[in-house]
Amino acid sequence: MLALICQMKTAASAKCVQKLHKVWKHFQPVRCLSNMQTNESFLTTPIFYVNAVPHIGHLYSAVVGDAAHRWQCICGAKQAIFSTGTDEHGLKVQQAAEAAKLPPLQFCNEVSQKFKYLFDANDIAYTDYVRTTEDRHNRAVNHIWKKLYDGGYIYQGEYEGWYSTADEAFLSNQQVHDVTVDGGNVQKVSIETGNPVEWTSEKNYMFRLSQMGPQLLEWLHTNPEAVRPSKFYAITKKYIEEGLQDLSVSRQRERLKWGIPVPDDPSQTIYVWLDALVNYLTVGGYPDKQHVWPAIHIVGKDILRFHAIYWPSFLMAAGLQPPASVICHSHWTMNNYKMSKSRGNVVDPLDRTHRYTSDGLRYFLLREGTLHSDGDYNDDRLVNTLNADLGDTLGNLLSRVTAKSINPQQVFPQFHSDLFPWQPSSSSSTVVRALQEDYDLIESVQKLPDTVNMHYRNFEFHKALEAIMTCLRSTNGFVNRHQPWTLAKNPHEKPWLDTTNHVTMETLRVCGILLQPVIPKMADKLLNRLGIGENERTWVYLESFKTYHGKAGGYDGRQLGNSGGILFKKIKQIE
Ligand code: ME8
Ligand code: MG
Repeated sequence: MLALICQMKTAASAKCVQKLHKVWKHFQPVRCLSNMQTNESFLTTPIFYVNAVPHIGHLYSAVVGDAAHRWQCICGAKQAIFSTGTDEHGLKVQQAAEAAKLPPLQFCNEVSQKFKYLFDANDIAYTDYVRTTEDRHNRAVNHIWKKLYDGGYIYQGEYEGWYSTADEAFLSNQQVHDVTVDGGNVQKVSIETGNPVEWTSEKNYMFRLSQMGPQLLEWLHTNPEAVRPSKFYAITKKYIEEGLQDLSVSRQRERLKWGIPVPDDPSQTIYVWLDALVNYLTVGGYPDKQHVWPAIHIVGKDILRFHAIYWPSFLMAAGLQPPASVICHSHWTMNNYKMSKSRGNVVDPLDRTHRYTSDGLRYFLLREGTLHSDGDYNDDRLVNTLNADLGDTLGNLLSRVTAKSINPQQVFPQFHSDLFPWQPSSSSSTVVRALQEDYDLIESVQKLPDTVNMHYRNFEFHKALEAIMTCLRSTNGFVNRHQPWTLAKNPHEKPWLDTTNHVTMETLRVCGILLQPVIPKMADKLLNRLGIGENERTWVYLESFKTYHGKAGGYDGRQLGNSGGILFKKIKQIE
């Protein structure tokens, strides 16, 4: 049973959804589960370095965020912010611009545009695309710096230690080790990432991270969902228990020119990670506006320390609330190897979008990607998954139930309660045609929205999609059991033919609404074909089988929409 409790306001929801699909013009008040509390939400992806072009891992973070955001809108979030963007300062970008022989800003403009293009091509419905070279961001960074400085959290000091430009990270002696590189030379590298480090010794501004341990631990203890999933919560705790050292938060300007100068000290540039993390505040309108805060940050495991240790520390030191949650996902490998440019196995996401469609690529990433362990990108498996799930299971079911041969009037067929009674006693048992498995199917369809909602809210898209596919496979089994193509040959069987088709269509309608966050274009096509209006696709419409329950408001008799062609064209594997 759906608990349809809280009523949402129309206008703000409409704003969010308008941005989403641009076609949902007639948005109506929606209700949501009582425990959702989704009036406001603020989801973010990392902002990506522009030193290199986007790859499949970047797109994955954006797709996870987009699907979660779309689901919140479907559930009626009044104010739903979803931001992504690019991280454009720092030594790494400075060096990449030099190598490209371009002025840094021009270099940033070009690469930032590539990320935006990729996200647009994949229907990432961000509400804000933030760039750290924007003025609004510069103001936010200056403001928080002064807050931290005035609060005594930043002091002038001497930094001596290792620096990895590839990771833009300061490392202690315990975090580096020697490796032998080509030619037999010994090179110091970061233990965590394997990237080379350089010794740096300079006058810097330091942040009192060493004092933040107790506050960080309290944040974790009072918020079991502060870092999710639990594996990464445990890693975060371990970082703190190992002891935190003060953090250098600036570099000498002569070494790092491409960045925001320290307020009142032009000889120093603000450390790129302090600069970058503040992007989330920039999006919220900091320091001028009252904004939705705190946010839920989606990040890859490579940047957990920055989001689960540094970021809450900066926020708490500035008197702001730490993150609502840091959602940490694992990495994609390519044919079981870490993607790397030198190995030449980096997947070009735009090429895959063109090959498989945006919905196809989104579906595979969310069907196979999990938070807790690495996923492997493999084109053969992608093709098999899409063909089986979207072609043989979903597409096939839609063509079976909408074929002119079994549905000549092209309507959402009438449900006949005497043949499939909700309360068995209400009909004489000789008329009843429904079998126990058919009742089981209806029950499973009715439970599906709550199950999917739980998985979507835990960012476990693969589990949600498995539940939806299981339901669709059972419905294909239902069709096989009752053989509408045989029923259609006998005019006396029309009421039962209609009843079974009604059950199939109702299942497709529910699955179509639930699939919108993952495959927005295909779900739109499916729901259009079923004649479901653009304003009938939110949480409240997930109440199913109304006619079966003897309620008004079922879809019986409504005209189907245009066919619009095959839902998913099966893909031939490219050699
Ligand atoms: O770290 N698998 O940017 P970045 C899955 N600018 N996700 C991956 C991935 C992979 N193989 N590779 C990258 C930065 N990602 C900073 C962030 S935020 C204030 C600043 C994703 O361009 C994942 O989300 O190196 C990872 O955390 C992010 O891209 C790193 O992108
Ligand atoms: Mg990186």
